[in-house]
Amino acid sequence: MMLLFDFPLFPEQASTVARDVDALYLGLVALTGGVSLLIWLVIFYFAIRYRRRPENELAQEEEAPKSLEMAWTIIPTLIFIGIFLAGAYVYFHVMRAPDNALDVYATGRQWMWKFQHPTGQREINTLHVPVNRPVRITMASEDVIHSLWFPAFRVKADVLPSRYRTLWFQATKPGRYHIFCAEYCGTLHSGMIGWVEVMEPTDYQRWLAGGTEGSLASQGEKLFQKYACNTCHTGDNTGRGPNLAGVYGKPVLLSDNTTATADDNYIRESILNPQAKIVQGFAPVMPTFQGQVSEDELIKLLAYVKSLGVQATPAPAVESPRSFVTAAGSPNNPGAQPPAATTTTSTTTQNGTHP
Ligand code: CUA
Repeated sequence: MMLLFDFPLFPEQASTVARDVDALYLGLVALTGGVSLLIWLVIFYFAIRYRRRPENELAQEEEAPKSLEMAWTIIPTLIFIGIFLAGAYVYFHVMRAPDNALDVYATGRQWMWKFQHPTGQREINTLHVPVNRPVRITMASEDVIHSLWFPAFRVKADVLPSRYRTLWFQATKPGRYHIFCAEYCGTLHSGMIGWVEVMEPTDYQRWLAGGTEGSLASQGEKLFQKYACNTCHTGDNTGRGPNLAGVYGKPVLLSDNTTATADDNYIRESILNPQAKIVQGFAPVMPTFQGQVSEDELIKLLAYVKSLGVQATPAPAVESPRSFVTAAGSPNNPGAQPPAATTTTSTTTQNGTHP
């Protein structure tokens, strides 16, 4: 933390990327500030050194030496390439969530943040996460564009009404940090704030053990029946809709012979706008659920479809980048912390009981 008259200029660095982001930012400020200062000093110096004397002197054209031209071409080129490489390095680190990340779902609305955990906990304007473990937030908005911002983690992403986006962070110190909305979204935009509570793994485990209405996936399964999805998606190959088991994260062949990946946004679109992508071999008979299924319910349905994917994965887990089981439970993944791994495992165990 930088102090100037006891006024903190920067929020605490509390995530794995915070130091890199700050270094890049301060490096750019130092470089651009330094160059501006240099230019200003040179202008000042030249204006005095080469002022007109005598009064009636006429300007002469002077050719710049080749070496000077080379220098002011090559040196800035190298500097710009350096900025690009440093920026790309930080960007990839910030954008790409580790495979073993803990999933959390966020919904923005005027004017609050709602968070849902795979284990079923729901929170408003507060988010509990374990320390030293990557957390991936999948988020959508119920109304206008918001932006979820964790200043102490140096991550921020727009939250859109039309599709899912994700951001991730790994908190490095337990504590309580600000959550802000960073996109003007109406009258109470400035009040769309909250706290993220970074907890020690044992405290987090205790918090998770608190009351819930069952895992997100099991709540999703209830909705799957409530909306009668199961009358067509029967879970075998006799239904009017495709069998959803094992579909998550896999390529799907469509009626126009193109292929789509069954990711979060595909499943979301298939529920809200089923005619957009028709799976090959099926008729476009599914009605839209736009306006019937809320964002919270979409997340539950998504978690349910995901859990079907996990369940259908054969025992010697194949490459499945977003599967809970392979990511958290794999023995060759020592990075996963035992308590958190227990959490995800228990989730999949619950999910494993689904037909
Ligand atoms: Cu939500 Cu500003």
